[in-house]
Amino acid sequence: MRTYKIAAIPADGIGPEVIAAGLQALQALARRDGGFALEVTQFDWGSDRYKRTGALMPEDGTETLKAYDAILFGAVGAPDVADHLTLWGLRLPICQGFDQYANVRPTRILPGIQAPLAGVGPGDLDWVIVRENSEGEYAGMGGRAHRGLPEEVATEVAVFTRAGVSRIMRYAFKLAQSRPRKLLTVVTKSNAQRHGMVMWDEIAAEVSAEFPDVTWDKMLVDAMTVRMVKEPRSLDTIVATNLHADILSDLAGALAGSLGVAPTANIDPERRYPSMFEPIHGSAFDITGKGIANPVATFWTAAQMLEHLGETAAASRMMRAVERTCAAGTVTPDVGGTATTQDVTDAVCRAIRGENI
Ligand code: NAI
Ligand code: MG
Repeated sequence: MRTYKIAAIPADGIGPEVIAAGLQALQALARRDGGFALEVTQFDWGSDRYKRTGALMPEDGTETLKAYDAILFGAVGAPDVADHLTLWGLRLPICQGFDQYANVRPTRILPGIQAPLAGVGPGDLDWVIVRENSEGEYAGMGGRAHRGLPEEVATEVAVFTRAGVSRIMRYAFKLAQSRPRKLLTVVTKSNAQRHGMVMWDEIAAEVSAEFPDVTWDKMLVDAMTVRMVKEPRSLDTIVATNLHADILSDLAGALAGSLGVAPTANIDPERRYPSMFEPIHGSAFDITGKGIANPVATFWTAAQMLEHLGETAAASRMMRAVERTCAAGTVTPDVGGTATTQDVTDAVCRAIRGENI
């Protein structure tokens, strides 16, 4: 029996609701498969802990996580704590501390989910966005001086290193090569940002020589938003900087129906540290506690986790179960349904057990 140690960090808002749903589906998959088991440890890290103790996680938090095979993360953010404190106090120390430099965000329109673009349905929008996850605009470089004075200054420096850009380009080309269309779009802003972004473009061209069978093109990030809306079929794999991909992947989630279906994997491709899996969405204060959070993004990221762990059959079973459930109309209000989080979870677990297949 293969046993995986999973660290669950549900954290804030709807995080605990969707992680509870995700764990139910994962345990149903393990039972159905019979070949692997998941040993889950729950961590109470998050904004409540910050309000109690002054820190979102213990000082040796990342040290503790090193003992796990993977991390399943909910969402962090509370209405009464500044967002930069919560993000930099929990999620970013894990992503950056474990050098999870590849952030992988698949987007597809699932059957049964009404997407907002006219004439665009399942099969017409099937993308994977690769987000550089270790440097760029979120490197944390910069500072403030002369606080509160008229001459106050704040800098936020985007950092691009040859090592960082090369490895994310290589990851993206490889991923594009593994997909049937072998098509990569490199998102840039090298017209306006003539240092980091020009190097980004140069490295893309250099790395492309290693992947002669991948067709690739380059898009300015502003024009990319137009292409995503007007020509979704023309895109397949996409690579972008930390900030650009952050924004584009919310758009991608919305074009696929809802942020509530969009998953993400923070991967350390070299497997030196555990990778972290999470829905893209945040803690969604407006629906917290109502029992209507869409758990599909969490099911999907759980499938990414299983795939990363090598449990590919269970990962595909999860996605088949999710697709069947959505196609049958068991969906939450954010995608036009009336089902609760638990209704969707129960239906997915039934599909996993094979009861309605
Ligand atoms: P959000 O993703 O929490 O919510 C945006 C909108 O999408 C809301 O209307 C919400 O109800 C809806 N939504 C999100 N997930 C949903 C789901 N599973 N089912 C149904 N509807 C869903 O983003 P927002 O409002 O900008 O941020 C709220 C808090 O979350 C902030 O504190 C923010 O910093 C934090 N946040 C945390 C993230 C993380 O932990 N990775 C990511 C994004 C935001
Ligand atoms: Mg975001």
